[in-house]
Amino acid sequence: MQETSTPFTKTQQAIALEDRYGAHNYHPLPVVLDRGQGVFVWDVEGKRYYDFLSAYSAVNQGHCHPRLVKVMQEQAARMTLTSRAFYNSLLGEYAKTVCKLFGYDRLLPMNTGAEAVETALKMARKWGYEKKGIPAGKAKIVVCEGNFHGRTITVISMSTDPDSTGGFGPFTPGFEVIPYDDLPALEKALEDPNVCAFLVEPIQGERGVYVPAEDYIPKAIALCKERNVLFIADEIQTGIARTGRLLASCHNSRCACPNGMCTDPDTAKRPDAVLLAKALSGGMYPVSAVLANEEVMEVFTPGTHGSTYGGNPMGAHIAMESLAIVTDEDLCGNAERLGQLFRAEMQKLVEDYPWVKKVRGRGLLNALLIEPRKAADGSPRTAWELCLLLRDNGLLAKPTHGDIIRFAPPLVITEEQLMECVNIIRTSVGQFA
Ligand SMILES: Cc1ncc(COP(=O)(O)O)c(C=O)c1O
Repeated sequence: MQETSTPFTKTQQAIALEDRYGAHNYHPLPVVLDRGQGVFVWDVEGKRYYDFLSAYSAVNQGHCHPRLVKVMQEQAARMTLTSRAFYNSLLGEYAKTVCKLFGYDRLLPMNTGAEAVETALKMARKWGYEKKGIPAGKAKIVVCEGNFHGRTITVISMSTDPDSTGGFGPFTPGFEVIPYDDLPALEKALEDPNVCAFLVEPIQGERGVYVPAEDYIPKAIALCKERNVLFIADEIQTGIARTGRLLASCHNSRCACPNGMCTDPDTAKRPDAVLLAKALSGGMYPVSAVLANEEVMEVFTPGTHGSTYGGNPMGAHIAMESLAIVTDEDLCGNAERLGQLFRAEMQKLVEDYPWVKKVRGRGLLNALLIEPRKAADGSPRTAWELCLLLRDNGLLAKPTHGDIIRFAPPLVITEEQLMECVNIIRTSVGQFA
């Protein structure tokens, strides 16, 4: 491969280097970030932006939260990794903290979101064989069209996105795909006695913040309970205050727990398993987890599952602090309140511009749907071009598909900052017209 000639700006240099030596498995917006603090990030040229992606909702607590930096520095100097060959002084305390906060008996620690999903699939199958009596090798897991659960071979085996699956077969069998937000389809799929689990996102984030009907999640939970099928909520993107609740799947059960915390022990209304990652570590370090009650989690016995880094003291300490920040700073309340304000402001754009079609979302996980057009000179006007304008005006967001822009700022954003961002979006939309 040819070496490129030395480019001019720091931005061009960084992009050229990544283009030359990195695999081309992403299509980043052309901006090179160097520093972050709270809701802000700075590029290598020193320009400041509002971060309206939050690393796909991993940085809910804001960039480089001082409490997380402190914990990380202290823990780095004390101990980072033990493996699970030995106990460590933080894993038990961490597991207890998470179990108490979310109302489950046990936690299984992993690192990335996709690993948490893989773990849940294994757990569900084993539960199906050992507890439900499904014949060996026949367990089936029901999933939804438009899902995004990660990138491993088994996880993409559930995907309906050709970009995710193309050229990667053969795939893992044992999944049935049904339409999202479709209770009759779920009811029908659950007639098969070999179904061990239904895996679903309470809001489909990667599909473009697709919010299902109000009663979808509670009724789907009830259907699964009736058929003795595990309801597994993938809350990797929606969880940890992002939608104004600790978990998005709590939203529609009409619970009113203080500060979005689960105080309702009624397991009939809740998922059998919850998958967490991303904001569990506030963007500091890969930490993921599967939460479930004893009757389900006990299918894992020594040697049946694991990960060298899963449950390490560094991740455990950071995750405890990340969750404490969510509670101490009432990030659920902030996401709920500012989310309503944001959608009301975006609705004004929908009314003012015919090609701004819709705003949807919950809490501070929102999306603006636009109609892709062509400018007078024939050049495209898609969500990508609008994101470039937003960038020029000081706000970073990323399109999903050609016509949807997700807006998900860190949850520490203030009302004043949010209104400044609304103005940036309004200005950019005006320039885009
Ligand atoms: C709902 C959901 N599940 C799973 C994942 C995979 O997480 P990771 O990228 O950490 O593997 C993602 C990532 O975007 C996600 O949004």
